[in-house]
Amino acid sequence: MKIAAIVGSNREDSYNKKVATFIQDRYRDSMDIELINIRDFPLYNQDEEEVPPETVQSAVEQIQNSDGLLFVTPEYNHSIPAVLKNAIDWFSRSGRPTAGKPTMIAGASQGALGTVRSQLHLRQILNAPGVSAKVLPQNEIFLGTIQDKFDNNGNLTDRATIDFIDNVVTNFKEWINQVS
Ligand code: FNR
Repeated sequence: MKIAAIVGSNREDSYNKKVATFIQDRYRDSMDIELINIRDFPLYNQDEEEVPPETVQSAVEQIQNSDGLLFVTPEYNHSIPAVLKNAIDWFSRSGRPTAGKPTMIAGASQGALGTVRSQLHLRQILNAPGVSAKVLPQNEIFLGTIQDKFDNNGNLTDRATIDFIDNVVTNFKEWINQVS
């Protein structure tokens, strides 16, 4: 199955990006995960939504061609980062590729709470009429103190974290089959 993955951080060394690439590598036998570039999207402008910029259009097509969606995002000031909200605003008005897509959410932070507050907001946003993603119920991947979960080579090696992700990804695959 084909999955479109969206990372909510622009940072080169982003922990959330590392988690997304970990998921991409670990489950490559059963899921073909493609990272969607949202960092070059201009700020949303309703005047442009009829003919969206090329970067937006190509992301819309990637999502349309996928069987599911994966969000891996940090928490910024108790919500989702602006770059992610901007992308979702574009999608909600230009093609609505997220509508009906089975969706899984994960997030990592360096603090203890592991993006709890941003995920609550993200679930609410994904339920807006123009977005209408089918988010996997329960099964929330909150990864706190993420800086401690990697070895010196930058590999995610923490056993409990990997077991946790394995479990949710299994449920996500079932969710995709159920929703599709
Ligand atoms: C943060 N961070 C943060 N962490 C958190 O748990 N709750 C929060 O509200 C915030 N707010 C916040 C705002 C801004 C503007 C920044 C830059 C950071 C810290 C954040 O969890 C940490 O920087 C992560 O490492 C960001 O994710 P990436 O870029 O590593 O994926």
